[in-house]
Amino acid sequence: MKALILVGGFGTRLRPLTLSFPKPLVDFANKPMILHQIEALKAIGVTEVVLAINYQPEVMLNFLKDFEAKLGIKITCSQETEPLGTAGPLALARDKLIDDSGEPFFVLNSDVISEYPLKEMIEFHKAHGGEASIMVTKVDEPSKYGVVVMEETSGQVEQFVEKPKLFVGNKINAGIYLLNPSVLDRIELRPTSIEKEIFPKIASEKKLYAMVLPGFWMDIGQPRDYISGLRLYLDSLKKKSSSKLASGTHIVGNVIVDDTAKIGEGCLIGPDVAIGPGCIVEAGVRLSRCTIMRGARIKKHACISSSIIGWHSTVGQWARVENMTILGEDVHVCDEVYSNGGVVLPHKEIKSSILKPEIVM
Ligand code: GDD
Ligand code: MG
Repeated sequence: MKALILVGGFGTRLRPLTLSFPKPLVDFANKPMILHQIEALKAIGVTEVVLAINYQPEVMLNFLKDFEAKLGIKITCSQETEPLGTAGPLALARDKLIDDSGEPFFVLNSDVISEYPLKEMIEFHKAHGGEASIMVTKVDEPSKYGVVVMEETSGQVEQFVEKPKLFVGNKINAGIYLLNPSVLDRIELRPTSIEKEIFPKIASEKKLYAMVLPGFWMDIGQPRDYISGLRLYLDSLKKKSSSKLASGTHIVGNVIVDDTAKIGEGCLIGPDVAIGPGCIVEAGVRLSRCTIMRGARIKKHACISSSIIGWHSTVGQWARVENMTILGEDVHVCDEVYSNGGVVLPHKEIKSSILKPEIVM
């Protein structure tokens, strides 16, 4: 079986992290976002993943080469010369997606995180006999997504409306599709939106079916959603394989700590914290609802909450970092400095406090 991951876009909403890496390579729960997806695809028998990309394919491929061997899955790129939207890339990768088997293939948005119930999706797809299946999930604010109106028992989609201005329903497109090869005959090689042009057409022919996604879901393309996404991910990890969570008297709630990270005496960590590879957390540090990325150092008695600390950054002694502070790669926050919602670009040194949310260039 094959899969295509839509990897376009510049990830502007996740700056400054995406100034150092393309969005799919930004770490989430201690590994690049896209690896969560590739591993889930591999687990259900996908043998080849095509990355539909419109910039810097070398960065992506170099990075993923290691994982290709480790996971035993083929990873290739299909590069656009102009952005082709969410459907055009499928036409471009047509030859890679179709083989003699006639099997359906998966298509994933690269910025969503969930439990990836892909096996259940294959069963659902086989059972309804339509042309395409999509996963849907309920959200409180449906207007920023694609909204799906469906027949509850069969899942047959009656209406698909991308970013509706008026309320049509609260089930939204989760960005996970299973498509028959015949869907490719509906897509021309030009910038095309699968949500606006292709799905509404298939729905009007009553061949589009939706399955309500069991478990959590989040589009983690924005800092606030990224931080909430980590909470949901760790909650689910606790239910599924709680041995992967950290334990001890210094841990509160759900926390993951990479094996190569070091934690000093007298820290209090959690809830909802991810500490990445090679991180050093010195004595007496307090961490909650935050991500500390690979190679970062948190010095004695610092306190961090609701924030993301980018790769190889340092936070000084007695510093206090909170309220959606996002430190880019290699940022240094000096001792005793306070950051209230600072968004700091890579390679900066912060010597004085940031008193209100602002971008530090
Ligand atoms: N290759 C390629 N080329 N990929 C692209 C392009 C392009 O021109 N444009 C967007 N993508 C990729 C993005 O990287 C992302 O993985 C996916 O297509 C969806 O684009 P977003 O820009 O993230 O769209 P969205 O979040 O506003 O809405 C989409 O996702 C929602 C769920 O998070 C839609 O699919 C909605 O219907 C859906 O509800
Ligand atoms: Mg998105």
